[in-house]
Amino acid sequence: MAQTQRKILVTSALPYANGPIHLGHMLEHIQTDIWVRFQKLRGHLCTAVCADDAHGTAIMIKADQQGITSEQLIDRVRQEHMADFKDFLIGYDNYYSTHSDENREFSNYIYKRLRDNNKIAVRSITQAYDPEKEMFLADRFIKGTCPKCKAEDQYGDNCEVCSATYTPMEMINPRSVYSGATPVEKESEHYFFKLPEFQDFLAKWTRSGTLQDQVANKLSEWLDAGLKEWDISRDAPYFGFEIPDAPGKYFYVWLDAPIGYMASFKNLCDRTEGLTFDDYWAKDSDAELYHFIGKDIINFHALFWPAMLDCAGYRTPTGVNAHGYVTVDGTKMSKSRGTFIMARTYLNHLDPQYLRYYFAAKLNASVDDIDLSLSDFVQRVNSDVVGKVVNIASRTASFINKKFDGQLASDVSENSMIQSFIDAGDVIAQHFESREYGKAIREIMHLADQANEYIADQAPWVLAKDEATLPKVQEICTVALNLFSILATYLKPVMPQMVADAEAFLGKVLTWDNRSELLFGKTVNAFKPLMARIDQKQIDAMIEEGKEAAVAAAEAVETSQATTETELSKDPIAAEISFDDFAKVDLRIALIAKAEHVEKANKLLKLTLDLGGETRTVFSGIKSAYKPEDLEGKLTVMVANLAPRQMKFGLSEGMVLAAGPGKDEIYLLEPHAGAKPGQRVM
Ligand code: MSP
Ligand code: ZN
Repeated sequence: MAQTQRKILVTSALPYANGPIHLGHMLEHIQTDIWVRFQKLRGHLCTAVCADDAHGTAIMIKADQQGITSEQLIDRVRQEHMADFKDFLIGYDNYYSTHSDENREFSNYIYKRLRDNNKIAVRSITQAYDPEKEMFLADRFIKGTCPKCKAEDQYGDNCEVCSATYTPMEMINPRSVYSGATPVEKESEHYFFKLPEFQDFLAKWTRSGTLQDQVANKLSEWLDAGLKEWDISRDAPYFGFEIPDAPGKYFYVWLDAPIGYMASFKNLCDRTEGLTFDDYWAKDSDAELYHFIGKDIINFHALFWPAMLDCAGYRTPTGVNAHGYVTVDGTKMSKSRGTFIMARTYLNHLDPQYLRYYFAAKLNASVDDIDLSLSDFVQRVNSDVVGKVVNIASRTASFINKKFDGQLASDVSENSMIQSFIDAGDVIAQHFESREYGKAIREIMHLADQANEYIADQAPWVLAKDEATLPKVQEICTVALNLFSILATYLKPVMPQMVADAEAFLGKVLTWDNRSELLFGKTVNAFKPLMARIDQKQIDAMIEEGKEAAVAAAEAVETSQATTETELSKDPIAAEISFDDFAKVDLRIALIAKAEHVEKANKLLKLTLDLGGETRTVFSGIKSAYKPEDLEGKLTVMVANLAPRQMKFGLSEGMVLAAGPGKDEIYLLEPHAGAKPGQRVM
């Protein structure tokens, strides 16, 4: 049994700091955590680190919308992420942030190595630019009409309706999603990592056993097609690290994100006796390094990352382990169906170990998607975990406690079954090691079936009625509890809390190796129920909460985007402005030609405004105070030169003016009789 202790460093992909952890993320962290706990249980020196991926435009914009700094946003989100992981029993040795001193240092260092090895190219490129926000726009921050099929509201790179691909400037009526402004083209200098120069290195590396075959095959296609240089810089404003020799230029978030693995580990090393950074990352390191990731980010981890590491003089990963996507009941997770389930929503209703078990039962080493079928989930957890495993202990513990004062038999006449359970550990270990958790779970449940059959055959409850056969009862229950303790050992990586409770009952801390040390003649403690069945009601309540959250989130977007009068009335003391400032506002008399409800919007009405010939569509948050039919034909005042805003329900081209505190007290302004639509208000 003795084996050499391996030194292993494991990472999960770093979740973006701009949103909550959901069950899709959770699959990855559970997959990683099971593997790490398994290695630790086997006595290896295994360290797991993760962090929040804190940089990028999306985080900056989100902070801006919330009126806080990016730093405040990422701090808050990191606390939430850490709480989610802790409550899901995910035990990282360090959970850090890419916005850290360590990460800045490593990023600068690696960049300089790439540059000094002549692997950085600098050249000008032309990009879409938001003249109002004064920033460059990535394609997905531009929306407009598809030039091919004329579908509206499409992203700036491809059409979801007809699949056409194009540049943002080829779109009809392209708009910045931030400001609604029409983007212009603008040139700027960018920094590129010369990936094509790593073609041979990567062709070899990707075939060196570091990747799943499926993944290596996919990458071969890209490698055969030829690699492109990778744009690693972004222009200010950008939340990230400024490139050391290029003021105003920032590292693209994906440049410093994987370096965040190193930074998190370094941060841990600096406060952990005996853990040394170079032991794990130096070129000649004999430690193992594994990255667990989703299939969508393979190119970053299996092309860019090994090339960067190799070029900068570090070791490359031992393995990049990609998994598939989580679907719920056979389809993509969906907010409106309530199946886009946040980790916290789940935790509000269910024990995390149910999901850990279910994912384990379905996981394998491929990149295939994993379906969380809710009815199967309930059925499987109840029948396997509660009905099979826990049952072994609960059927036998009470006899030991009640009839024998907790004392197990000091020997048993027949222990071949126990031996076969111990022996099965070798193949189960191979399955865990190779990430075939589903196979491991099938083996374990097969054993659990055998244990239950044994108990049913022996029927200790019958023998317990007769004083003469009581010793036999003690023996049967002793066998059963030994079987249980071995199964609990195998399940410890998957259900750590349940097994901790089992350990308290058995009075033994279980490790992979000590599973052969049998519990004979020992005294066990009082038995407490280890795990309850899932009730369908808990699932229903969770889905309901998911739906409510989706509605609330949509409303938050709706109200934050709707330019309403009530927003103005919140701040009674406006700063003084010059007449010129005031004159910039183009106020016009508008005729409300049409007023309509907006499907699924709780606060908005859609107004069609006539400006004396010209027509404008405006979404206004006045639904609580007005019936659409009461508005039609009325005159009001609008801001006619407000930048159009892309809202969930369509483009809003201006805003109408109203007074009042809000809710049902909103009063639209109306001019005295005689005013005509389109007239300027001064
Ligand atoms: N920040 C990057 C990763 C940087 S790693 C140096 C990122 N973040 S993410 O939050 O979008 O995703 C984090 C991980 O969660 C990725 O591995 C991704 O594949 C995984 N998943 C996100 N949604 C998922 C599902 N629905 N199902 C399974 N995994 C999913 O990418
Ligand atoms: Zn199209």
